[in-house]
Amino acid sequence: MATQEDTTPTEAVSNATTITRIIDVVAAAAPEIRAGLPGRRVYAETDNPSGETPLEADIFADDMLRDRLGDLRGVGEYASEEREEVIDTGTGGLSVCIDPLDGSSNLKPNNTMGTIVAVYDAPLPAAGTDMVAAAYVLYGATTTMVVARDDTVSEYVIDQEGDYETIREDVSLPDDPTVYGFGGRVPDWVDDFADYAEEVESDPSMKLRYGGSMIGDVNQVMTYGGIFAYPTLADAPEGKLRVQFEGYPVGYIVETAGGRSSDGERSLMDVEKDGLHARTPVYVGNEEFVDDLEAAFDD
Ligand code: F6P
Repeated sequence: MATQEDTTPTEAVSNATTITRIIDVVAAAAPEIRAGLPGRRVYAETDNPSGETPLEADIFADDMLRDRLGDLRGVGEYASEEREEVIDTGTGGLSVCIDPLDGSSNLKPNNTMGTIVAVYDAPLPAAGTDMVAAAYVLYGATTTMVVARDDTVSEYVIDQEGDYETIREDVSLPDDPTVYGFGGRVPDWVDDFADYAEEVESDPSMKLRYGGSMIGDVNQVMTYGGIFAYPTLADAPEGKLRVQFEGYPVGYIVETAGGRSSDGERSLMDVEKDGLHARTPVYVGNEEFVDDLEAAFDD
């Protein structure tokens, strides 16, 4: 939780300190977000900026993180998938983009969801190359957190007090990948992607792992190696996932862990889109899988 010292905007703090404080705040909020989920399984009254109807749980997590991160010294802007506009904290500093509860449709069937954090050293909407750290919390059987910063990825387990302990350091994608997860309705896939999916499925070492929460599905790839895609679709060429809140942070995390990210043509980090809530196709995973995917679109 933010202390008096954290929230008094008197002296400048270094970006490194701010990133640590952001991660601390998100970890501290995680058990409270988790504890707040059971009573918030119903839909909220208004749609979010992407035209989806959030659950009360999405709004609850967003409000909590907005209050705590927005008040943090060193955070100049706060944005979330659930808000139309960027909030300027008036103090200057790093910009934080939050997907408060990624995969919240998994709340009713009690499956994995997560909180995604993207930190940019630029006003929002920022470029992928402005990213200075990214992280996600996973509300699974246990609460874990993966953080990419300073060219390294670490994985932690978060306890009920919001303290966290390292479980993996220098995380890198395994060399012998075994899982794939592809979103979107199969009949809506474009032919190039359908052909690529068939190629992946024909590899006897690969198993389907798809749960419908991007961050849970990406974490499968971070753990076992392979590829996650929410592809371009025939009726939605930009796919479903949002650049600032999902595309850039997972691209940053997977690339920092030695993998590759792509929108089908280039690294997600080099994707340029207008608008805070713009979308992009997302392909992330082991290098050889993303290379083959780009080759399939290039044919
Ligand atoms: O962006 C929200 C999200 O829930 C992602 O976590 C997930 O990958 C995707 O939507 C699933 O979408 P759909 O249910 O349309 O396949």
